[in-house]
Amino acid sequence: MRTRPLKVALLGCGVVGSEVARIMTTHADDLANRIGAPVELAGIAVRRPDRVRAGVPAELVTTDATALVKRGDIDVVIEVIGGIEPARGLITTAFEHGASVVSANKALVAADGAALHAAAEAHGADLYYEAAVAGAIPLVRPLRESLAGDKVNRVLGIVNGTTNFILDKMDSTGAGYSEALDEATALGYAEADPTADVEGFDAAAKAAILAGIAFHTRVTIDDVHREGLTEVTAADIASAKRMGCTVKLLAICERAADGASVTARVHPAMIPLTHPLASVREAYNAVFVESDAAGQLMFYGPGAGGAPTASAVLGDLVAVCRNKLAGATGPGESAYTRLPVSPMGEVVTRYHISLDVADKPGVLAQVATIFAEHGVSIDTVRQQGKDGEASLVVVTHRAADAALSSTVGALRELDTVRGVASIMRVEGE
Ligand code: HSE
Repeated sequence: MRTRPLKVALLGCGVVGSEVARIMTTHADDLANRIGAPVELAGIAVRRPDRVRAGVPAELVTTDATALVKRGDIDVVIEVIGGIEPARGLITTAFEHGASVVSANKALVAADGAALHAAAEAHGADLYYEAAVAGAIPLVRPLRESLAGDKVNRVLGIVNGTTNFILDKMDSTGAGYSEALDEATALGYAEADPTADVEGFDAAAKAAILAGIAFHTRVTIDDVHREGLTEVTAADIASAKRMGCTVKLLAICERAADGASVTARVHPAMIPLTHPLASVREAYNAVFVESDAAGQLMFYGPGAGGAPTASAVLGDLVAVCRNKLAGATGPGESAYTRLPVSPMGEVVTRYHISLDVADKPGVLAQVATIFAEHGVSIDTVRQQGKDGEASLVVVTHRAADAALSSTVGALRELDTVRGVASIMRVEGE
């Protein structure tokens, strides 16, 4: 084994960073044996040194992250700051000074992954980010390496633990969205500002990363259609239950049937209780990958939290250090297919539409005519009437999202349709 250590700079020492520092210390011998050289934590850059957690070596702490990555003797920079800047500038500077980078930064990779990969390649460095998607669950490396000889057609999953916790609570207790969010906040799952999770930004960033790697193309967060779960009601969940379904916030990345384009989207959807994703409870994540040769694969586990995310970071650290010792780099960006990302209107799926209508002769026929005129085929209709009004639940066969939107627009114009109570896509059948 080489005795001269590989030097590591850690940028950020919050929930994840402090776990990375702890495991690097407690597992130092195992890491050295697995890598073939010791790894030494050479510096830890933080914004607020007074907030550094117990157990983190105080003598390594600095507030000057730029000076740390510019030192010239750093082999690997671990970035767990999050957000776009200063992370992007620091990573670029790290490459310029000969370091490889391990990052957990989904927002940055989803926004600017291509430029970061190009910078890594230009400097003969590695850029690894297993921890950016679904915490501890190995997904980036299986897609990038294990499935590199196969053709992935679909990635479908629950990639945000906070929203899964909220929907699980709503499903199991009948609680409304606000009540379930309050519980998620009290238990520390949801942040004080839960926007990134509940509006689907976090899941959309992960979907962009997964789609790019799975389909060997470039997908940014701006290409991902995004709907959060703030509009999901207890009535939607109850309606899903009546259909033998539950509601999940899904990230869905698909290659078009003709192979000429891809789509990526995040939105709440009903899935049958018989689907394996329906049994993913609390804050767990799970992702289905469908490919030509392997068929269906499912990845399941903790998608967040300090130690689980640190596990993914350290796996990348070992891989990057092994590459360094071999004088090589691992796989970089693979975006050769250059497949365009189609708009949401072209996505084809099934829909559950709940309407409040007048309960009188001809209304059902009127509603059915609107669906027919827009080329959307009805699968089932359920009606419950009371005092001259009725609630009508229509489930469609597969139809394009654009056709469904114009159907709903036309339904809203009907005098006999008092309101469109909810529209939800039905997936996983
Ligand atoms: N906030 C995310 C979640 C974890 O709830 O899954 C980090 O991506």
